[in-house]
Amino acid sequence: MTANDSAQPLVGDAPAVSGAPTTARDGYYNDKVVLQFSVATVVWGIVGMAVGVLIAAQLYWPTLGEGIPWLSYGRLRPLHTNAVIFAFGGCALFATSLHVVQRTCHVRLLSDRLASFVFWGWQAVIVAAAITLPLGITQGKEYAELEWPIDLLITAVWVGYAVLFFGTIAKRRVKHIYVANWFYGGFILAVALLHIVNNIAMPAGLTKSYSAYTGAVDAMVQWWYGHNAVGFFLTAGFLGMMYYFVPKQAERPIYSYRLSIVHFWALIAVYMWAGPHHLQYTALPDWAQSVGMVFSLILLAPSWGGAMNGVLTLSGVWHKLRTDPILKFLIVAISFYMIATFEGPMMSIKTVNSLSHYTDWTIGHVHAGALGWVAMISIGSLYALMPRLLGLKGMYSTKWIDLHFWIHTLGVVFYIASMWIAGVMQGLMWRATNADGTLTYSFVEALNATYPYYLVRFGGGLLVLAGMGLMALNTWKTFAMAKERAPQPVLAPDLNDARA
Ligand code: HEM
Ligand code: HEM
Repeated sequence: MTANDSAQPLVGDAPAVSGAPTTARDGYYNDKVVLQFSVATVVWGIVGMAVGVLIAAQLYWPTLGEGIPWLSYGRLRPLHTNAVIFAFGGCALFATSLHVVQRTCHVRLLSDRLASFVFWGWQAVIVAAAITLPLGITQGKEYAELEWPIDLLITAVWVGYAVLFFGTIAKRRVKHIYVANWFYGGFILAVALLHIVNNIAMPAGLTKSYSAYTGAVDAMVQWWYGHNAVGFFLTAGFLGMMYYFVPKQAERPIYSYRLSIVHFWALIAVYMWAGPHHLQYTALPDWAQSVGMVFSLILLAPSWGGAMNGVLTLSGVWHKLRTDPILKFLIVAISFYMIATFEGPMMSIKTVNSLSHYTDWTIGHVHAGALGWVAMISIGSLYALMPRLLGLKGMYSTKWIDLHFWIHTLGVVFYIASMWIAGVMQGLMWRATNADGTLTYSFVEALNATYPYYLVRFGGGLLVLAGMGLMALNTWKTFAMAKERAPQPVLAPDLNDARA
C-alpha cells in the first residue's frame, strides 16, 4: 500500500460551494456548540481528574474522608470514572465530532436548537451523576452506574445527538464522507446499542432498579458493554479525532486513506467479540473465555495498523515535532494507544490474566489508555480547535502548551510505570508458595509493599492535574484575547459625532 493512496478530499475545510463563507466568524457553521463543549471538556477534565487525585490519595491515606459517607472511596471511584469518561471524554467527543462533521461535509449542523438541546441535556446528565453517585445511588454496574431516570435522559440526548450528526451527514454538500465521520458514526451507533441493552431494568422507585439479567448472563452482558464502552467510547470516537486533527495539524494528508477504511471495518468487526477477556476464570463457559482471548489477540492488528496510519502521516514533516507542542500531544497520544493495545491483548491471554487480574497492572493499563491516549488526543485536538474557531492563529501561549505536554507526559509515566511494577509485584506475591504449599506472603504484606507505588501514582496524578490547570488558564486567556480582537460594532456616524 502506498502512502497517500487516495484521491479523496482529505480533511478539506473550505466549503466546496462557491460563495459560501469560510471563516468561523461569518456564521456559516454552528461553532457555538463546539466551543461550549470544548470549554466543558476542560472544566469536567479538571473536576474528574481532581476526584481521581483524591481517590489516589485515599488509597495511600486510607482514613482520608473517614466517617463522611459521600467522601467514601466506594462512592468517589464511580464519580471519577463517570466524570472522566462521560463528562471529560464525552464533551471532547461531542465538540470534535460536531466540528468535524460540519467542516468535512461543508454544511452547517442540521439544527441549532437540537445542538443546544444536546449540549444542555448532556450537562444535565453530568450534574445528575455528580449528585446521585456521591449519595450512593447506583445500579452497581461498572461504567453503567447511573439509575434509570438518568438512563432515560441519556437515551433522549443520545437520540438527539444521532439525529444531529447523521442528519448533518445526510444534507452534506460533498459526496464523499470523510473517514473520521465513519469512526464517529460507529461510536454513536454502538454506544446507543450498548446503553440500551445493558441498562434494561425493572424500576423499584425513583432511585432503585433491578437488572433484567441474572448470574453469568448478567456478567456477560455487563462486560460486553464494559469492553465495548472502551472500544467505542474510549477508542473509536477518539480515532475519529486522530483522523481529522493529525493530518490537519501536520498539514499532510493521512498516510493511507485505504488503510483507514480497512482499519474502520476491521475494528468494528472484531471489538464486539472481545468482552469475555474481562471474565477469565469465572463462571462464564470456558469456550466463551477463549473466544474473548482469541478476538483480543486479533485486535492487535487493526489497532496497530490504524495507529501506524496516524504516525506515518508525519512522513516528511517529522521536524514539526520539534516546534509544535500540539503535534507532540497528538503523536505521543498515538504512542500510548499502541502501548495500551499491545498490553491489552497480552493481558487477555489466560495465563497472563491469571497474574494480572485484580492487580494494579489493570489500573496501569487503563490509564495508559485513558491518560495517555484519550486525554492526550483530546487535549491536543482542543488546542488545535479552539483558537481556530475564535479566529485566532493559536492559543494565548504556545510555551504553556509545551509545558503542559511535558508535565502531562511525566505525570502519565509516573502513574503507569508505578502501577505496572506494583501490579506485577502483587500478582507474584499473591501466588508465591512455600515448599509445604502454604502462602509465602499474607495479603497485608503485599499491600504494604504497594504503598510506595501508590505515593508515586498520587504524584503523577497531581502533575496531570496541574497540567489541566494550565490548560484552563490558557483557554481563559485565549477567549479573552479573542474578545479583545473581535471587530467592534461600527457606530453610526452621528453617534460617533456625539461622542466626539
Ligand atoms: C489525574 C488523573 C487521574 C488520576 C490521579 C486517576 C486515578 C485513579 C484511581 C486512583 C483509580 C482507582 C484505582 C483502583 O481502584 O485501584 C482510577 C480508576 C479509573 N480511572 Fe482514573 N485517574 C485519572 C485520570 C483518568 C482519566 C483521564 C480517565 C479516562 C479518560 C480515567 C479512567 C479511569 C477508569 C476507567 C478507572 C477504573 C479502572 C478499573 O476499574 O479497572 N482516569 N483512576
Ligand atoms: C487491543 C485493545 C485492547 C485489549 C485487547 C484490551 C484488553 C484488556 C484486558 C485483557 C483487560 C483486563 C481485564 C481483567 O483482567 O479484568 C483490560 C482492562 C481494561 N482496559 Fe483494555 N484492552 C485494550 C485497549 C484498551 C484501551 C485503548 C483502553 C482505554 C482507552 C482500555 C481500557 C481498559 C479499561 C478501562 C479496563 C478495565 C476494565 C475494568 O475492569 O473496569 N483498554 N483490557
